[in-house]
Parts: sequence; structure tokens; C-alpha cells
Amino acid sequence: MTKEWVLVTGASEGLGREFADLAAAEGRGVILASRQVDKLEALAADLRARYQVEAVVIAADLAQPGAAEQLWQAASAGRVIDILVNNAGLGRNGDFADLAGWARERASIEVNVTAATTLMKLAVADMVAQGSGRVLNVASVAGFLPGPHMAVYHATKAYFLSLSEAVATELAGTGVKVTALCPGATQTNFFAADDAEKATLLTKVFPLPSARSVAVKGWAAMKEGRRIRVTGLMNWLFAVSPRLFPRRFTAWLTGQFLRRR
Ligand SMILES: NC(=O)c1ccc[n+]([C@@H]2O[C@H](COP(=O)([O-])OP(=O)(O)OC[C@H]3O[C@@H](n4cnc5c(N)ncnc54)[C@H](OP(=O)(O)O)[C@@H]3O)[C@@H](O)[C@H]2O)c1
Repeated sequence: MTKEWVLVTGASEGLGREFADLAAAEGRGVILASRQVDKLEALAADLRARYQVEAVVIAADLAQPGAAEQLWQAASAGRVIDILVNNAGLGRNGDFADLAGWARERASIEVNVTAATTLMKLAVADMVAQGSGRVLNVASVAGFLPGPHMAVYHATKAYFLSLSEAVATELAGTGVKVTALCPGATQTNFFAADDAEKATLLTKVFPLPSARSVAVKGWAAMKEGRRIRVTGLMNWLFAVSPRLFPRRFTAWLTGQFLRRR
């Protein structure tokens, strides 16, 4: 019977798949959640076969009201969840004034902010009661910078980063730790899902790290109990740039990378 369970949101693609694999490789039971159930089922079968672990699939559209509460209830029924990987997320590249982008921007607020906060709150409450636990919040280097042409996404990640740090501070001495992983552009489906893969300089200028390499760093940071992990030298430079340069300049520069061309 599995004693240690990990809930991974957004496990059907990219970083989430890799987190699920890393958790299963350590012999933990995995609960895989997102909308694409066929991909989750295939991943669950693969993890069961390769690591002889329990793998559970839960369909969840986290942009829907109440979905995060329902997911936590289903995931934690009869199981103690030791690790929450709060990974599901999406962004929208385009001008803020363009109303056509609002549906996707709104979904990004629902998933990246509302659902992620809800899951974190429910997880932290249970983990404090049990005296241990880990939350790995997949934020972004975007959380350090305003992002012209991807303004709502950057704002969601600034919120998530701030929330993570604040809650990590509150939780000192409880046995529960919160880590914010802050990658930059990574080889996943993230930009293609927004039809933006070839549209911005961001994905063309620098060689993008693999999802595996980013997930490995995030997983290690979570196990070490680190509060923030920015991956990659360029991303670290982006993260500190608002402290070194006028904020107006940093926003302009970020906008050059994000502007559709
Ligand atoms: N790739 C990058 O460049 C990058 C950089 C920094 C941070 N991040 C962050 O990393 C996290 C993972 O993204 P990724 O790069 O792995 O992108 P991805 O390959 O597009 O994966 C995103 C995951 O989020 C899930 N998701 C999206 N909308 C959802 C919804 N309404 N309900 C439930 N799940 C939903 C997707 O699952 P379904 O489609 O099956 O629902 C998918 O599994 C995100 O939080 C993203 O902001 C990514």
C-alpha cells in the first residue's frame, strides 16, 4: 500500500509529466490531474509499468469554478498527500488592448492564480495538521518582471511568487515547506498551446533547456526545502535586473522579447 502520494497538476504535458516521472522513480504514488485524460492514462500506465507504483488519474479543468476544491477532495480521499506539485498553467501572448485574447487571459488567471491558490491552501492546511509536507509551486522568471505583450501571464506569476514566499515564511517551524520554481522559456508545449512558438524572440534567441532538466532542478530544490529556485544564468540575470536597472527599462527590454513579430 502506497504511503507517500504526490499530486501533480498539469501532468499531461511538459514539466508536469517530468515531475510525475521523478516522483514515481522515487517509489511514490502519483495522482495525475489535468483535462487531457487520455494522455494522463497513458502516462499512468507507463509509470506503473516502469516503477511499479500506484498511479491515479483525475480529470480536472482548473479554469472552472470549484474544480480545484473537487480535485483536492478526490485526490486526498483516503490518501495522505505529502507533495503538491502546483504546476498547471497557461499564458497568452499578445497586446492587452486586444479583446480577442481575454478568454485565454481569463483562463490563465483562473488556473495560475485562483486554482493554484486554492490547491495550495487546502494542501497546506492538511499538511500543517499532519506536521509535514512540501508544495512545489511552478512560478516563472516572469514573476520578477512586468511582461509587455504577455502582461496578464507575468502578473499571475508575480502573484504566485509573492504568495509562495509569504506562505513559506508563515510556515516556518511547521514541518511544511513551499518552493517556488522560476524557470525561463523551456522546451514544452507552453508556447505552441498559445500559437506563439514562432511569434516572439523569447523562444528563438536562447537555446531552451529541456523540460527534464528544469524539472530535475525544481524537484531537487523542493526536496532541499529551498524557497525560490531560478533556473539558468540568463533567467537569474532577468530576475535581478529590476534591482540593477530602472524598472521602465526592464519592462521595455522584456517587451522586446515578448512582442509578436
Ligand atoms: N515552458 C515555459 O517556457 C515555462 C517557463 C516558466 C514557467 N512555466 C510554467 O510551467 C508550468 C507548466 O507549463 P509547461 O511549460 O509544462 O507547459 P505545457 O506543456 O503547455 O503544459 C501545461 C499543463 O497545464 C495543464 N493545463 C492547462 N490548462 C489547464 C486547465 N484549464 N485545467 C487543468 N490543467 C490545465 C495542461 O494540461 P491539459 O491540457 O491536459 O489540461 C498541461 O498539462 C506552467 O505553470 C507554466 O506557467 C513554463
